[in-house]
Amino acid sequence: MSLDGQKVFVIGGSSGIGLETARLAQDAGAQVTIASRSEEKLAAAQAEIGGQVATTRIDVLDDDSVKAAFAATGTVDHVVFTPPGGTVGKIREIDTDAVLQGLDAKIVAAVRTAKYADISERGSLTFITGQFARRPLPGMLMGAAVNAAIDVLGRGLAVEYAPIRVNMISPGVIDTPLHARLPDEMREGMFKNAASRLPVGRVGTPDEIGMMAVQVMENGFLTGAIIEIDGGANVLV
Ligand SMILES: NC(=O)c1ccc[n+]([C@@H]2O[C@H](COP(=O)([O-])OP(=O)(O)OC[C@H]3O[C@@H](n4cnc5c(N)ncnc54)[C@H](OP(=O)(O)O)[C@@H]3O)[C@@H](O)[C@H]2O)c1
Repeated sequence: MSLDGQKVFVIGGSSGIGLETARLAQDAGAQVTIASRSEEKLAAAQAEIGGQVATTRIDVLDDDSVKAAFAATGTVDHVVFTPPGGTVGKIREIDTDAVLQGLDAKIVAAVRTAKYADISERGSLTFITGQFARRPLPGMLMGAAVNAAIDVLGRGLAVEYAPIRVNMISPGVIDTPLHARLPDEMREGMFKNAASRLPVGRVGTPDEIGMMAVQVMENGFLTGAIIEIDGGANVLV
């Protein structure tokens, strides 16, 4: 198997894209640890993934938590970072404190991860960013800004961290629990609207991003890349 015996640490592995990345990395032979804030969600994900998957608590908003989680885990081969960030709202209406929290949740959190992760020389760090970085939508500009910032941060880290590889995966609309906070009708409308515009005619599934994350871990010649996997959103005018 392609990741046989390699250690994979998935931050945000208790849900959505992170959970499917963890499942597929384990299927590829890796020893996987999933990490997030909620012990309940971690336990549910562990039961769902099965096998030997380990769990650890981490809060990427907290320096000490990130430091402690990596210190306890030791050297790993691959880290995948999935927690969301940004703030929803039009700029004239947005709350400035909420903006700072949204930047912390993804940009500073990504920096904390890069700072404390102990990754082997053959390994990689992968950030999940998002299509809004290239196709900003009104009301979602802070989501665009955080993901664009990580695309730049990650390309810089690919140089600073070499030979450790650093890549970004930029998904389009994916049906995950991230959207569960929207009322059902609004979520279904959003998915329907996205599906009708996309060349593939549907929104994505989290395993489709997880598959790409496993390939990024496996491919030793890939670094500094931003991989758009968005059902063709990137070719729409
Ligand atoms: N779904 C989409 O349509 C879409 C599109 C483009 C980009 N993306 C990006 O893809 C990434 C993954 O999204 P998803 O849809 O898989 O989301 P999700 O299903 O909501 O999963 C998010 C994961 O992050 C963890 N998390 C959140 N805050 C955290 C924190 N402070 N510290 C540690 N872990 C934290 C959550 O677990 P806990 O709650 O237990 O901490 C959960 O495991 C996000 O960065 C998102 O912006 C998603």
